[in-house]
Parts: sequence; structure tokens; C-alpha cells
Amino acid sequence: MTDATKKKIIVSGIQPSGNLHLGNYFGAVQQFIQLIREGHDCYYFLANYHALTSLHEPGRLLELTHSTAADYIALGLDPELAAIYVQSDLPEVCELQWLLTTVTPMGLLERCHAYKDKIAQGLSSDHGLFAYPVLQAADILIVRADCVPVGQDQRQHIEVTRDIAGYFNRLYGELLTVPEAYIPESVAVVPGCDGRKMSKSYHNTIELFAPEEEVRQQIFSIVTDSASLKEPKDPDKSMLYAVLKLFCTEEEKAYWRDRFTSGGLGYREVKQAIFDLYMRLFEPMRARRRELDSQPEYIDEVLRRGAEKARKIARPLVAEVRAAMGIPNR
Ligand code: TYM
Repeated sequence: MTDATKKKIIVSGIQPSGNLHLGNYFGAVQQFIQLIREGHDCYYFLANYHALTSLHEPGRLLELTHSTAADYIALGLDPELAAIYVQSDLPEVCELQWLLTTVTPMGLLERCHAYKDKIAQGLSSDHGLFAYPVLQAADILIVRADCVPVGQDQRQHIEVTRDIAGYFNRLYGELLTVPEAYIPESVAVVPGCDGRKMSKSYHNTIELFAPEEEVRQQIFSIVTDSASLKEPKDPDKSMLYAVLKLFCTEEEKAYWRDRFTSGGLGYREVKQAIFDLYMRLFEPMRARRRELDSQPEYIDEVLRRGAEKARKIARPLVAEVRAAMGIPNR
């Protein structure tokens, strides 16, 4: 963050539409934790309304919402320091979304990638996917957030949020805080096992809490070229190095860069190193996650408290917005 001395309001969310993976960790959760440690006022939620745009299995959505909350805690989001909640436990979000849709130009949403890509592929879309960015804007604006830590793929959504806040403020007065995205360059896009962006929908993920053997298989499935063991390799063109360096200290990066460029380094050795570094980082979190399996009431309590805290900001914010727009607050 640019000005770490000023206490800011931070918000971000993850869709509970699949199991968390390295892209979610390095692109988002790592920054969530950093911002808690810097002493900011943090709000982290599970975007279950957003997940409904792709997941239509009620039992699975319920289960994933609960288990992703446990994942958050196991990864180090301390519920004593940050509000952790489920999007749908903040009913004010949907109300704010409607109010914001009335100042959102169609063209702004027509340019958004998820919707545009679907239409370009000749697939039919639905209103949920079209309105998705307005709901995301409501998530952010409702807690008066200054800063939103996300991966690169979410940059456009933060820009849309800024635009919508601007349209609203020009029409009704400077009520909404215009937020900034926080996207550190080094982790903006984590590549998946097939070289595309790591994503639940591409089935190319390395998961955070899958059984050890599955994680090993996922890591060993990272695509490589056919260079021989002897050949020197360019780390900057290597997918394996792109994943490996996420786990490395500066010294370890220098060591591996040297090993890549000197020749004599086989891809199996690098994959084993990624696996070992993965375990070094995640094993304590995976152990904590196993403990949380037997504490569903604790997770529910954390989510209740988190929603309560967020609603303390959300209720008066929505009341102010309603009043500014000419909707009575009785
Ligand atoms: P979602 O659930 O797709 O992803 C959650 C977070 O993980 C980041 N991420 C990645 N970062 C780097 N490399 C990758 N391969 C990678 N894959 C995922 C995402 O950028 C994101 O930060 N629309 C959001 C959820 C959302 C939200 C919000 C976020 C709803 N409301 C309000 C912030 C604020 C989404 O689909 O994220």
C-alpha cells in the first residue's frame, strides 16, 4: 500500500464456487493478511450471490460457503482482527445494488469481460452475469472501502465500481467513497498448470487444501517444454519458474535462477522443489484447516459476528443513500 501509516477500510471477497487454489492465495489472500497486519480495518467475505451466476447446486453452494470460511481462517485471516462474513448475510448489499443500477449506464456493463466474452462465444447470458459488476460495486461501496486487494482479473470490476461511485456522487452529492485497487505486480496473475491463468473454471488449479497426493499430481501436471536435462533454460520463459518463485525468498530465487541458466536442471527436480516449498508454506495452514473441520459452530459464530460488524457500516450507509435519492427511511 502506498500510505501504510493511515488506517484504511479494506474489503474483498472470493466466490465460494470451487476449492481455493494458489491463484486465490497469492493473488488475493496473501494481501488480505498483509493488510490486516498493517492494522487496517478489514472486511473479507464469501461472495455467494456472485457464485450463483455459475453454480446451481444448492447443497454444494452451502457446503462451499461454509468450507471456504474455514479456509479463510486456516489461511490466517484472524476473525478477531478482520470481519469475515457471507455476502448474503448483509441484505443491504442487494438493496444498494438496485439503487446503483439506476445510475449505471448499460454501455459500462456491456464492456465488462465476463459478459462480453460469453456473448462473443455466441452463448446466451443472463441478467445475473450482466449485473454482476454492479453487485460487486455494492459489496465494496457498502462498507465505504478505500482499498480493494484483488488479482489482475478483477481490475476492470474495481474500475467499474469507481465509475459507478462517480456517477452517483455527481448526481446525488459526494456520499460514496471512491476505492482504489491494490494489485501487487509480482502476483497479479498466477499461471495454472496448463499455462493459462489459474482458474477454477479452467480445471488447471493447484489447490490449497486437497489431499497431499492430489496436490502432488497437480504440481507434477504443470506443462513443460521438451528441453533436455543438459540445456540451460530461461527462467523468465518457464512456467515452472513462474510458480516456483511465488514460494521463494530473494536468495532462493537467485539460487534457482542460477540453476536454470547453468544447465543440468531437470523439470522433475523443479516440480519436487515446488511441492516441498508448497508444503513448507501450507502444511501449518492445512493442519489448522483439519482442526476446523470439527468446529462448525465456531465458524458460524465467526460469520455471525462478521456480518454484524459489517452491517454497522452498511445500514447507515444505505439509509444515507436512500435519503439522498428521495426514498423515505421509516
Ligand atoms: P474470484 O472468486 O474469481 O477470485 C478471488 C480472488 O482471487 C484472485 N485470483 C487470482 N489472482 C491471481 N492469479 C490468479 N490466477 C487468480 N485467480 C483468482 C481474484 O483476482 C480475486 O481477487 N468477482 C470476484 C469476487 C468478488 C469481489 C467483490 C472481489 C465479489 N465481490 C468485491 C473484491 C471486492 C471474483 O470472482 O473473484
